[in-house]
Amino acid sequence: MIDRRKFLAGASLGAASLFVPRLRMARAADDDIVLTAEEVTMSMAKGEMAESPFWLYNGQTPGPTIRVKKGEIVRVRLVNKLPEPTSIHWHGIRIANSMDGVAGLTQPAVEPGGEFDYEFIAPDAGTYWYHAHNRSWNQVARGLYGPLIVEESTPSFDIDHDRMLVVDDWRIDKSGALHLDSLGAMMDWSHAGRLGNLLTVNGEFRGEFDLNAGEAYRLRLINASNARVFEFDPARFKAKILAYDGQALPEPISLSYSPMLLGPAQRVDLLVRPEAGGDFAIEEISTDQSLPIARFKVVGVTKDRGNPPNLELNDLPEPELENARQFRLDMTGGAMGQFVDTKYKGKVLGREDFRTTKQVWAFNGVANLAGDPFFAVTRGETIILEVVNRTAFPHAMHVHGHHFRIIEREGSQVDEGRPWRDTFLIGPEQTTRIAFVADNPGKWLLHCHMLEHAAAGMNTWFEVS
Ligand code: C2O
Ligand code: CU
Repeated sequence: MIDRRKFLAGASLGAASLFVPRLRMARAADDDIVLTAEEVTMSMAKGEMAESPFWLYNGQTPGPTIRVKKGEIVRVRLVNKLPEPTSIHWHGIRIANSMDGVAGLTQPAVEPGGEFDYEFIAPDAGTYWYHAHNRSWNQVARGLYGPLIVEESTPSFDIDHDRMLVVDDWRIDKSGALHLDSLGAMMDWSHAGRLGNLLTVNGEFRGEFDLNAGEAYRLRLINASNARVFEFDPARFKAKILAYDGQALPEPISLSYSPMLLGPAQRVDLLVRPEAGGDFAIEEISTDQSLPIARFKVVGVTKDRGNPPNLELNDLPEPELENARQFRLDMTGGAMGQFVDTKYKGKVLGREDFRTTKQVWAFNGVANLAGDPFFAVTRGETIILEVVNRTAFPHAMHVHGHHFRIIEREGSQVDEGRPWRDTFLIGPEQTTRIAFVADNPGKWLLHCHMLEHAAAGMNTWFEVS
């Protein structure tokens, strides 16, 4: 699926550079954090590429790291200096609905020149991220996202052993400038979404990090790309899984299969303990050539420092499958998909209407947000969602405001222990069932996190009252 030639073209630009990316931190909770969304002209890879206008929070990519403690109140003022309206969504946080940041559903978009104050409690420890949620296909592609780390009340890793790796694939042209002309291209919207050709980690091309031999590290991977599914094999560098989508596993596990897939918006926390001389890389292996996402240099001699304590678990409501209410979501459309009648804004689309509406995907025969919710339930009910992918593409389905367990996945095994997730990948022609307790009142989005797919129809909502 990855266009390897394109991918390599980007990767061959510029000389390898050695550096330890230092992420600037936004001020801690207690005082307010200001995120200013603005256009910044800069070049990728430290000036080796042509300059172009990025849209960033506080002029940096990724945006400032927001680090708070579990249960703390987070206050963030969004200042919009962009030429178009925007909002911020706190991905994976089981948040109060009015703070969820979905323009058009939970708040009006913030106009250019406007401000919005977000204030919420982060109930769960873990690895999250924030990103623009208005015209996300455009705003996230230009750089409007950043990491949000919620610390356990007693962290198992100190700050030096707690590393963040925000991975993105940007689409750049031959000069190295952001490819703006292809933003919104119908070809991407109807196929696999906007795939890039320059891989960065923490905004750096060919990121390299130092680790001390024998010491245990938590590596928090965040996939911030619009549509790229990263594939890698944790066994190659003896990594164990600590957490998925922010939620810790009871104990670290080794994957029994390869590759691990990290879809857009998904996170995974890895545990590594490199040996002296054991330099390694996390490599993208979906093509026949491995591409390094991040390289690690192991320094010093191995001393045995014992195992870090297991991560504290968050307290999530367990679904009661016996009394669950079941809903079915049919995903249709896209290139190579069969044509089914699709409604958009109350009207059935004709075969050629995609040219004007740009709507090519549908959930239950409806493209984009319908006036009525997909389903409405009362707070506390267990929901089983049967998601049927009748398209020729994989998708990354995200439920707002809740974490769920995958209970059944046709044709492939469900991960041991049914870990909590907020985003799941579903293959072409696959059916997956997820379950969660709808315990968070409000209007919640349910969409594909391949942002072009969402914009082109894969977007619905449900209501918890
Ligand atoms: Cu990460 Cu609806 O978003
Ligand atoms: Cu999709």
